[in-house]
Amino acid sequence: MGRAFVYVILGGGVAAGYAALEFTRRGVSSGELCIISEEPVAPYERPALSKGFLLPEDPARLPSFHTCVGANEERLTPKWYKEHGIELVLGTRVKSADVRRKTLLTATGETISYRILIIATGARALKLEEFGVTGSDAENVCYLRDVADATRLVNVMQSSAGGNAIVIGGGYIGMECAASLVINKINATMVFPEAQCMARLFTPKIASHYEDFYISKGVQFVKGTVLSSFEFNSEGKVTGVNLRDGSQLAADMVVVGIGIRPNTSLFEGQLTLEKGGIKVNGHMQSSNSSVYAIGDVACFPVKLFGETRRLEHVDSARKSARHAVAAIMEPSKTLEFDYLPFFYSRVFTLSWQFYGDNAGEAVHFGDFSGTTFGAYWVSKGHLIGSFLEGGTKEQYEALAKATRLKPRVEDLAELERQGLSFALTL
Ligand code: FDA
Ligand code: NAD
Repeated sequence: MGRAFVYVILGGGVAAGYAALEFTRRGVSSGELCIISEEPVAPYERPALSKGFLLPEDPARLPSFHTCVGANEERLTPKWYKEHGIELVLGTRVKSADVRRKTLLTATGETISYRILIIATGARALKLEEFGVTGSDAENVCYLRDVADATRLVNVMQSSAGGNAIVIGGGYIGMECAASLVINKINATMVFPEAQCMARLFTPKIASHYEDFYISKGVQFVKGTVLSSFEFNSEGKVTGVNLRDGSQLAADMVVVGIGIRPNTSLFEGQLTLEKGGIKVNGHMQSSNSSVYAIGDVACFPVKLFGETRRLEHVDSARKSARHAVAAIMEPSKTLEFDYLPFFYSRVFTLSWQFYGDNAGEAVHFGDFSGTTFGAYWVSKGHLIGSFLEGGTKEQYEALAKATRLKPRVEDLAELERQGLSFALTL
């Protein structure tokens, strides 16, 4: 048995939702487009899962955060897909792909063929087992990638009220979940191997500001070590964690955020991979001209830096999706993707944005004991990255614009003195 479509999007996450909207704007006909997703729900804004979804009061729940509300556009509910003649094949995992024959085989045994395939399979959360720790499938150990994980996390938080949570990992998931745990009145201790939180992005000075703020909210930090094993009770629930430095911490629950791996396995040996993702050109087109890749799974040329990158952020998922659809529908009118990397987070009352690249020398500015401060990164005499906490819309826009321009910076001390006004007056 089988069905055939002109366009198939494999994966039903953020990128799939934004691609669907772009297809309808560019005039896809009813019955031409199909989205296949392992998740049982239509595409949604994944960032909500570690923020509004975890709030104790008035939490965000579907359908309120279906794509594309994250960019204040239309909210694409299942009804919207139906009205636009887009086939949503939900709760269905694709178990193999044949790019030569242009077919996908689903776990339910259906063969779906395409003329153009867009791979939007995103990524999966790394498991502690991959680092030699066993037992992370216990009922009170939570990962966070999809709405099923988030629902489980909410249930585990409710049954751990007033108790202790151990958060493994000092990245995005660790930081956002530790804040949510505290807001839910659960004591949170963050454990991570580095000397500071958010080591992939923050400078030590920026990290120290956030850590102090977290400490003021009751979060504790155990740095420079990792989990070596869990302690269990007779029912198989985790009651504590043993750390490699020999210490032990009691736990009513554990949240793990130790990074991701892009879901490329269906295409290994069939498409060119790079930096863990599917290598694409400036049209998001892979080494097979009928196959495109977007979002977390795509490794694409970032013109601004003259090299390929795989980004794991929602803005790049949204924009790469739109760009791929433009390139598919109007190839001759579509230029190369010219993307300025943009990351952000919101925790407690804090909110930051980052543009560009955090390479080279960091120059801090602003009032680190107050509410607005930031940093520029300067490499080979040019400003290439910028970070701002607590900015206004205008300030963030100025920072984005300045970073894209990559202005020449002769004097780092002068840049530090000018601070935000450097970007505002450029
Ligand atoms: P995404 O993961 O969204 O979707 C992939 C889809 O493919 C899933 O539905 C999956 O089930 C499906 N799939 C995979 N393999 C399949 C198969 N074989 N068959 C069928 N379906 C398959 N970023 C940011 O910039 N700011 C933020 O605040 C946050 N916050 C945030 C919170 C949380 C909890 C997470 C997990 C992530 C974020 N992110 C973020 C990152 C952001 O959400 C991420 O970059 C995008 O979701 C990537 O979109 P994609 O569509 O590429 O993958
Ligand atoms: P991450 O890469 O941000 O952080 C992983 C952290 O895990 C590292 O900082 C390190 O401290 C820790 N770590 C690595 N190996 C470990 C080990 N063996 N034991 C213990 N700790 C270890 O990844 P994440 O926090 O898991 O986030 C997952 C994905 O979700 C990322 O793609 C991220 O971009 C995305 N996300 C983004 C946002 C945002 O942009 N605001 C928010 C949430 C999630």
